[in-house]
Amino acid sequence: MAKIPVIIDCDPGHDDMMALVLAYGSGKLDIRAVTTVAGNNTIENTTRNALNILHYIGADEVPVAMGYQDPIVRKHKDVIARLLASRRQQMSEEEERQQEKIQGAGVHGVSGMDGFAFPPDNPKRVEPLHSVEMMAKVLRESEEKVTIIPTGPLTNVGLLIRLYPELLPKIERISMMGGTSEFVLSRPYMEFNTAVDPEATKLVFESGVPITMFGYDVTYRVLYGRDTIVQMRALGNHAGTMVADLLEYFMEAHNSMAKRLQLDGVAPVHDACAVAGVIDPSLVTKSKRLRVDVETGGTYFDGATVCDYTGALGWPPNAEVVYNMDNERFLRLLVEAAGRCL
Ligand code: RIB
Ligand code: CA
Repeated sequence: MAKIPVIIDCDPGHDDMMALVLAYGSGKLDIRAVTTVAGNNTIENTTRNALNILHYIGADEVPVAMGYQDPIVRKHKDVIARLLASRRQQMSEEEERQQEKIQGAGVHGVSGMDGFAFPPDNPKRVEPLHSVEMMAKVLRESEEKVTIIPTGPLTNVGLLIRLYPELLPKIERISMMGGTSEFVLSRPYMEFNTAVDPEATKLVFESGVPITMFGYDVTYRVLYGRDTIVQMRALGNHAGTMVADLLEYFMEAHNSMAKRLQLDGVAPVHDACAVAGVIDPSLVTKSKRLRVDVETGGTYFDGATVCDYTGALGWPPNAEVVYNMDNERFLRLLVEAAGRCL
């Protein structure tokens, strides 16, 4: 069966790492490009992390292009400060001190990929194209339609839609990790990726491109535990060891920073859900076609995704919102994919 052509737009990030390992190791996807965006950390750090991950798992042939530091309208540092302000009161003094050093989401650490020491001599470099130009080049040159899998803020995808509307018919689907329709993490209807760049998110939801939304509704249901970490480490290869160390760190970070979620001994691996849904759509066990929009202002809900359950807004649905996946098969897919990497 022919591989599915994809572009992965990411902000590594521990769960972005899992998404990249799954995409590369699955053997089902033809990764035409990995493009980076600022989100979990600065664009320099997310790009360096993407290069390190791909080189370490043996994916040197996958081109990487670097995006912008800031969202389309806002400043990355301002958005992070605002999003974390709502969580500060839940942080201990030590977490508060640690957070001061982090330029992104707290659960990924200062580098954006804390928990594993990559070899320092990575020869893999970014391509000379900007992320958006790389996306446009891939779409322009591809004979088939390409699926875009954003696992970070939608800055690059939003700009692609605005700058190159003639290329939209070349996009098969946007399978995104982002948004939330009912699951509340720290603030109602607020998910990190869509909240970092609400203006870009709006461009995506209004684009008319088919969208499958893997938001908190599913990613906080499809969780990994220590048994997955043990299985990864038992692989004995580069990918298994790296994944085990990084998922261990990610689980500890969640267990301490998201105390009220009682994520004891389990953790989400958000971004891998959006990749798994492309590899095997039958993994999705519950979804609903809904109208999804995003607030781009206001005091309380700026950056929140709004899902019109009842059709009260009277607008046509624009996304397949995913609510659950087959957790066991999903986790098995992760381990098998890691086993097929270097
Ligand atoms: O809200 C979770 C999302 O934000 C994930 O993509 C994670 O990597 C961060 O980017
Ligand atoms: Ca991410």
